[in-house]
Amino acid sequence: MSSLIFLAIANNSLVGQLPFNIGYTLPNIQGLILSTNNFSGSIPASLLKAYHLRKLYLYNNSFTGFIPSFSSLPNLKELDLSYNKLKAGDWGFISSLSNCSRLTMLMLDGNNLQGNLPSSIGNLSNSLQQFFLRNNKISGPIPPEIGNLEGLSWLYMDYNLFTGKIPPTIGNLYSMVYLSFAQNLLSGEIPDTIGNLVQLSSLKLDWNNFTGKIPGSIGRCTQLQNLNLAHNSLDGSIPRNIFKIYSLTGELDLSHNYFSGGMPEEVGNLINLNKLSISNNRLSGNIPSTLGQCVVLENLEMQSNFFVGSIPQSFVKLVSIKSMDISRNSLHGKISEFLATLSSLEKLNISFNNFYGEVPRGGIFDNADAVSIQGNDHLCTSVPTGGVSLCSPQVDDKKQKHNSLVLVLKIVMPIVVTIIILSCIAKIYWRKRVQGNTHLQIVNEHIKNISYEDIVRATNKFSSANLIGSGSFGTVYKGTLQFKKDQVAIKLQKDQVAIKIFNLNNYGANRSFIAECEALRNVRHRNLVKIITSCSSVDSTGADFKALVFQYMPNGNLEMWLHPEDLEHGERHILTLRQRINIGLDVAFALDYLHNQCASPLIHCDLKPSNILLDLDMVAYVTDFGLSRFVFTASNAYKDSSTSLACLKGSIGYIPPEYGMSEEISTKGDVYSFGVLLLQMITGRSPTDGKFSDGASLHEFVRRAFPDNICEIVDPTMLQHDSNAPEVMKNCVIPMVKIGLSCSMTSPKERPDMGHVSAEILRIKHLASHMDVR
Ligand SMILES: *[C@@H]1O[C@H](CO)[C@@H](O)[C@H](O)[C@H]1NC(C)=O
Ligand SMILES: *[C@@H]1O[C@H](CO)[C@@H](O)[C@H](O)[C@H]1NC(C)=O
Ligand SMILES: *[C@@H]1O[C@H](CO)[C@@H](O)[C@H](O)[C@H]1NC(C)=O
Repeated sequence: MSSLIFLAIANNSLVGQLPFNIGYTLPNIQGLILSTNNFSGSIPASLLKAYHLRKLYLYNNSFTGFIPSFSSLPNLKELDLSYNKLKAGDWGFISSLSNCSRLTMLMLDGNNLQGNLPSSIGNLSNSLQQFFLRNNKISGPIPPEIGNLEGLSWLYMDYNLFTGKIPPTIGNLYSMVYLSFAQNLLSGEIPDTIGNLVQLSSLKLDWNNFTGKIPGSIGRCTQLQNLNLAHNSLDGSIPRNIFKIYSLTGELDLSHNYFSGGMPEEVGNLINLNKLSISNNRLSGNIPSTLGQCVVLENLEMQSNFFVGSIPQSFVKLVSIKSMDISRNSLHGKISEFLATLSSLEKLNISFNNFYGEVPRGGIFDNADAVSIQGNDHLCTSVPTGGVSLCSPQVDDKKQKHNSLVLVLKIVMPIVVTIIILSCIAKIYWRKRVQGNTHLQIVNEHIKNISYEDIVRATNKFSSANLIGSGSFGTVYKGTLQFKKDQVAIKLQKDQVAIKIFNLNNYGANRSFIAECEALRNVRHRNLVKIITSCSSVDSTGADFKALVFQYMPNGNLEMWLHPEDLEHGERHILTLRQRINIGLDVAFALDYLHNQCASPLIHCDLKPSNILLDLDMVAYVTDFGLSRFVFTASNAYKDSSTSLACLKGSIGYIPPEYGMSEEISTKGDVYSFGVLLLQMITGRSPTDGKFSDGASLHEFVRRAFPDNICEIVDPTMLQHDSNAPEVMKNCVIPMVKIGLSCSMTSPKERPDMGHVSAEILRIKHLASHMDVR
């Protein structure tokens, strides 16, 4: 079939060898997807003559022989040979790949690759983004030339036999997001340059032989979500800088090293951390009570250290904790009763410490399999369990206790009550006094404040050339901040920032500033715009001046991309379907995080295209939290500031209908706005477009065409390059429209949750990439 350009027969049970002449019989083939079958034999030489080949996926088969030379395939973009039985030979195939200047993905995991990695990897394409070599038997040093691959954002070299040091040139890979050298034989110190990888989201160096201290520069990796340095020979104290990486939301694993000294108090900053392991080190001192602030922590492993003192009372706040191991330390005291109230706790190990007294009852303590208490010589239980002695009932003792209880009630209680009343009064008074300031302190706690003069300089005296946006809150300028030497060590992309200046004369602007500070203090996610610093000062006339400084997004906002015709000098940008799906997914991830993964759900309340910013790689970021509200589920203390509609505005076209009926705001309101946004992205029509007949909404307009006439209403620019339009329509566009429709249903109950929405868009994204959608 000489005109065939795409063939996907993955995930079947096909066997046998590929036809030796496949490259000649399919001369126009661009995509060949044969993954997960049982093909064997070698990769036919003729395939290397299929000049147009862009994607070759042979993943998970039984291909044997040497990896051939690819130099005659200049269009090759994605090459996945992982999980076969291929050999490297003299590694000549790597230099042959330097002819494939469009290569973005190279997957070689799980083969029989042996010998040293050649330095010619440094000649691979600059556009290479994903490079996977895990699960092979590659030995020798990592070539320093790896530092040439500046486009890399995924590099997995784990489960090999690499030796020597990590080359410092690794610090050149500025785009790196996922980096793993785990499970090798690497040694020496972790290079300081690791701190240059400011986009890093996951760093895994576990199971090697690294020595020395953790470089302090790691604190500059402010996007890091997972950090695993376990099973090495690192020593020194745990640098405080680690606890300034507020993005750590996954795991922090420092176990099985030689770290010593105390556990820094700052650990309490990591309020979004899921797993903390510092077991099997030489840490000493008390367990910091600030650890109780890590309210989403599920796994805590502190065993086999030299901790002393008792279990901090603040642990009562660890409401998500599932597994806690503090065994083999020198902890003492009674076992705190509150442990029985931690309802998510499934496993508790306090063995081999010096706890004494009666083991509490109820909660986890009723399940003998879930609790390990052996090796605490003075513990006793009131119900017989293996290995622990029974508490002897002491009648006299009880009576004495009763007497002293009466005494306590008579004398101490009145004093206590008086103190409580007085302290409440003092607290209320104090709160009133400081209320105006607290929010600002919160922002400034971690980042240096800047002055009004700094901002005047950065914006070139608020020059109109720097103006990039305005709204009811005020204006946004582009600018360049000159930090003094001692200030902020953040490396900014070309040092450009976006500065949002609040117009405090407008009603609600001050409140909006505070809401935004409060929201940004509590959220960290890849798809949320990051704050750099704030300014709360007075301007040249002595009036209050408030501004927030954000990372600058060179590709502007989504509104500009969807409706360039509204711009004065709008050049015609076109978003491909693929980009639209990716943007939809980014926004869905961000909302899912805000709604479902924060300690208290956060409702954005003003989702619309102009609040979605795009970076150089067209990754989308949700911004503008000026109307956002936390929903406090546990306490009603903040009720009046959270769900009331008092000064909520939102934006016409995106406000859910129930807000008009003064119902309380909810996450389902954001889902509605998201649905409208999705429909807008697919149709290219704004919800406020006057063209809809008889006042119908965008939802109604799309629903009438769904599903048979969708072709007529999709944005025509979106599909113009796709060769396979009907299939793309069926597998990608229609499912996206379906999500858009269900999210924008009139009744909040019928709208799905953002968790489901993001999972569904992710599925569509995978389909789209398999179908080669542009
Ligand atoms: C490398 O690609 C160029 C065209 O891009 C081609 O002319 C050249 O022959 C290729 N090299 C090899 C060794 O095939
Ligand atoms: C990389 O490419 C350059 C120029 O093509 C060549 O001179 C050099 O030898 C290559 N390096 C390796 C290690 O193959
Ligand atoms: C509890 O900790 C001790 C000492 O670290 C260990 O030997 C034991 O296996 C642990 N128990 C469970 C159930 O994990």
